[in-house]
Amino acid sequence: MKAIAYKKHGGREHLKMMDWPEPKIKRGHVKIQVHSIGLNPLDYRMRRGEMGPLTLFGPCMTGSDFSGTIIEVGQGVQNFSVGDEIMGKRMWGTAAERLVVAANKVTRIPSNLDLATAATIPLVALTAYQMVHEQAKVQTGQHVIVNGASGGVGTYAAQLAKHAGATVTAVTSYRNMDWMSELGADHTIDYTKDNCCTGEATYDAFLDCRSNLSLNKVKGVLRPKGVYVTLEPLPSLVKDPFVNLLSSKKSRVVLLQNKQNQLLEIKRLIEAGVLKTFVHAQLPAKEIGQAFEILESKRTRGKLSVKILDELG
Ligand SMILES: NC(=O)c1ccc[n+]([C@@H]2O[C@H](COP(=O)([O-])OP(=O)(O)OC[C@H]3O[C@@H](n4cnc5c(N)ncnc54)[C@H](OP(=O)(O)O)[C@@H]3O)[C@@H](O)[C@H]2O)c1
Repeated sequence: MKAIAYKKHGGREHLKMMDWPEPKIKRGHVKIQVHSIGLNPLDYRMRRGEMGPLTLFGPCMTGSDFSGTIIEVGQGVQNFSVGDEIMGKRMWGTAAERLVVAANKVTRIPSNLDLATAATIPLVALTAYQMVHEQAKVQTGQHVIVNGASGGVGTYAAQLAKHAGATVTAVTSYRNMDWMSELGADHTIDYTKDNCCTGEATYDAFLDCRSNLSLNKVKGVLRPKGVYVTLEPLPSLVKDPFVNLLSSKKSRVVLLQNKQNQLLEIKRLIEAGVLKTFVHAQLPAKEIGQAFEILESKRTRGKLSVKILDELG
């Protein structure tokens, strides 16, 4: 079969269509015909070789989100059948014609979305869920600020915080102000004009989806016992244990975990109309370089979807 992969780390020019071994069905797994993949910053950071030991091996298939249709079911799988349309995420490597994936890590796609849109959901929605509910533990009546609210993670973080009963302030540029209000944000800050780390307003949780700040930088706008959550593991993982000992305001980091129960809850919230999915553009596999160019500009509104089905032949 064919896959989109790279043999050398670096720029988008290294992404090539390659022959790839056909994956074999395993117990507890399902085999799918991939329909689409959603692109994430993780994919270009892996390709550039910026993810330390994770990037030592090659050649590497790109992609970490996927949607597709089940074509074979492994022994011991009870809850899925051939023909089911599913979505999920892997550590890396989803841009192939077919994948074999663990049945206990995927869900059916939301009934109100198509496969191309569903492919963009898992990684960012799970990340946002873990920011809001596991790290910040957002409660009704709290005030939450979301930095990078117009990006893949941010759109879900803002909506989930709102759904948890918080007042939400969205930080983005002037390009996305109106859209953020439509998304449900109560207040907006244009980072090109105003500094979200200073000012009168204070917050119970600072969700730094852009992850370009730190507890130290946002301390002045955090309430006593407030929580700062970042998505950038370093230097947070090293510094946080010491920083948190000395401060009533805490710094936390999300290291994404692939939890099926949370993905099921996200699917339920999408079907209930609570969560909306925003796709900036859908492109065919032959334009994956352009898709990454958009993503790497860091100007994406929501997500990018790349169609794999019938595009790799
Ligand atoms: N730790 C983990 O497990 C984990 C999981 C997922 C993601 N991540 C990381 O989280 C980060 C965000 O991911 P993502 O998918 O949300 O990225 P993304 O979709 O590429 O984010 C793009 C958005 O960022 C906004 N933005 C750009 N510069 C900004 C600034 N200075 N201040 C505020 N907003 C700004 C842009 O809005 P404007 O166009 O208005 O500027 C755009 O809408 C990435 O670094 C990713 O690697 C980590």
